[in-house]
Amino acid sequence: MITGKAKLAGVLGWPVSHSRSPLLHGHWIATHGLDAAYLPLPVRPERFADAVRSLADLGFRGANVTIPHKEAAYALCDARTGRAERAGAVNTLVFAEGRITGDCTDGWGFLASLGDFDPRSGPAVLLGAGGAARAIAAALLDAGCPRVTLVNRTPARAEALARALGGPVAVAAEPPLADAALLVNTTSLGMQGQPPLALDLGPLPARAMVADIVYVPLETPLLAAARARGLRAVGGLGMLLHQARPGFQAWFGVLPEVDDALHDVIARDIPPR
Ligand SMILES: NC(=O)c1ccc[n+]([C@@H]2O[C@H](COP(=O)([O-])OP(=O)(O)OC[C@H]3O[C@@H](n4cnc5c(N)ncnc54)[C@H](OP(=O)(O)O)[C@@H]3O)[C@@H](O)[C@H]2O)c1
Repeated sequence: MITGKAKLAGVLGWPVSHSRSPLLHGHWIATHGLDAAYLPLPVRPERFADAVRSLADLGFRGANVTIPHKEAAYALCDARTGRAERAGAVNTLVFAEGRITGDCTDGWGFLASLGDFDPRSGPAVLLGAGGAARAIAAALLDAGCPRVTLVNRTPARAEALARALGGPVAVAAEPPLADAALLVNTTSLGMQGQPPLALDLGPLPARAMVADIVYVPLETPLLAAARARGLRAVGGLGMLLHQARPGFQAWFGVLPEVDDALHDVIARDIPPR
């Protein structure tokens, strides 16, 4: 139940009907018994900036931002966190004291989803060079990863990303798996309706971790292949759940937990394979 004092937030996207964020934040609002609501907010790209300012005028605490608005959100903020600057994108807006502040929690959420994996333990290989790759590569580098190699269908995009990131970032045509501590798929390959990712995991060391940020289905062919080889494998759902925590805390004043109950609520909404 909400009252006239309810705290409001939501997710801006186009389309937005596929987003699991309302389910996720709704679960936390119910768990903590908050006087709050989190809504799906479908907004066309050409209306995005006006819509954000209107939400602030309406007293919203802030919003998440998803495809295709993350770069536009970056551009309209009055202030940005360091990790949003590094990512070149914003997925979390906070409205306070007449200012719009932008954060990017995707890279942080990705690292949190890896549990006790230490980014300093060895080189990482990232497949893809889009928005998610940038956030993840920046988070890995900032956490002490000794080298990140980008492998992308469009090499020029990987080269541009490497220049933007700076530091120990390489671009390669073939993934250098033999000494990799971490392999991450940040492309949409393996997603429902897309072809699977075709990659021989044979050269990976036995201690390597394989992560796929695709979470529809929960178990992608890449994850299944990694598990079949006895490698540690992490799907994209954990990243989705963890990236939501800082926004919830900023808007509603409670830092929520990622636990089995939350995982089950969201996983029930997604095809297993
Ligand atoms: N788990 C989470 O919380 C989370 C968060 C964000 C994103 N994601 C997922 O991550 C994926 C990428 O998102 P994004 O925002 O980074 O998208 P993006 O900016 O559009 O980048 C897409 C990337 O995938 C590559 N790609 C697309 N189709 C391909 C194909 N057929 N063959 C080879 N490469 C292909 C692109 O290569 P080119 O540069 O050559 O086009 C690019 O590197 C999506 O599946 C998204 O759902 C998950």
